[in-house]
Amino acid sequence: MYRIGKEEIAAVTKVIESGQLFRVGNPAEGHLGECDHFEQEWARKIGSEYALLMCGGGTAALVCALAGIGIGPGDEVIVPAYTWLATATSVLTVGGIPVLAEVDETMALDPIDFERKIGPNTKAVIPVHMVGRPANLEAIISIARKHHLKVVEDSCQMVGGSYKGKRTGSWGDAGAFSFNWFKIISCGEGGALVTNDRNIYEIASIYSDSGSAFRPKAVELQVPIFVAQQYRADEIMGAVMRVQMHRLDGILADLRTTRRRYEEALSGIPGVHVAPSNDPEGDCGVVLMLQFDEPERASAFVGTCPISGCLGIDHGKHVYTNWTPLLEKRIMHHPDMNPFHFQQNQGLRMNYSDESCPKTLQLLRRTFFITMNPDWTGDELESGTIAVRSALEKV
Ligand SMILES: Cc1ncc(COP(=O)(O)O)c(C=O)c1O
Repeated sequence: MYRIGKEEIAAVTKVIESGQLFRVGNPAEGHLGECDHFEQEWARKIGSEYALLMCGGGTAALVCALAGIGIGPGDEVIVPAYTWLATATSVLTVGGIPVLAEVDETMALDPIDFERKIGPNTKAVIPVHMVGRPANLEAIISIARKHHLKVVEDSCQMVGGSYKGKRTGSWGDAGAFSFNWFKIISCGEGGALVTNDRNIYEIASIYSDSGSAFRPKAVELQVPIFVAQQYRADEIMGAVMRVQMHRLDGILADLRTTRRRYEEALSGIPGVHVAPSNDPEGDCGVVLMLQFDEPERASAFVGTCPISGCLGIDHGKHVYTNWTPLLEKRIMHHPDMNPFHFQQNQGLRMNYSDESCPKTLQLLRRTFFITMNPDWTGDELESGTIAVRSALEKV
């Protein structure tokens, strides 16, 4: 989250003064609330037909998307080994089993390992666009289509960026975004699912609202209403997101300019290069990702980096070896609700270990990123790039 201010305060004030904080208004008054408007505007912005805003955030959006494409017990879904663990656990929430695959040098799902990991029970894949950098969607989608798999894009960390001129989230059968506090635009917590598929939209929509049967839109649904979760957003979230959405393109433009300045300033240093990107133009510019030839130099550099936001990524919560509850198969509150115990899931691939994705671990050890700030002044940029270059040349 980069920018928030008076406009959001005014939007929240308006909602509170209206007394209408619940997103479902009085249909007799033709009520179209903040969340309704946001959904329409977000779908247009991303280039999809439908969008849902759900208070549960990106995880809720992933779960609804997986429900929407029909994942359940007996199904495997391929996920990258470098992501936030919600990508994998969302598969378990709907009863399926996540299968880990390697990332490639772009630090997104490796299409070759993805294809290698496809088995007879694989039903879908979740490419993840980590730190605002797109996955290789053309290759992944073409492999998925060849094997009749569905594609759910995890665009939680890539809000508004694009791949080959089309915004991420709009390439797959469905796309999930997060608006939590650490994302490009935010309302504190929140998320959206986008899709062009009416059936996916209807199932996801029913899944996200335990009161679906009692909503005005119930009469429009073709899918029989079932009881699921309560992931609804409220009008304050919708109002904040509408303002945040207007800030998005300006934030992205400034992040991209900043990243380009850093990239130019750090080029030509022996033994370290900018990590390859699946589309440098579409990259959000959240980070400049660099790769050393030798892992020892990467860790030595991160220890001496002169600016804040310089991070080694071989440790911490985005590395599969640290997803302890998943590795130890502690899922849900009751053993009978643990998908690893489901009869239909016996025989699926669920033997995770630290050795599951060795190539990913090697790449993570050589890679680090510098977090960009769209509000750095010219002087801050100048002094930052000079200091980082000098530190890089010394390790
Ligand atoms: C790659 C990725 N997927 C999913 C999520 C889940 O989003 P949320 O925290 O909004 O549920 C996140 C959030 O950090 C994420 O980074």
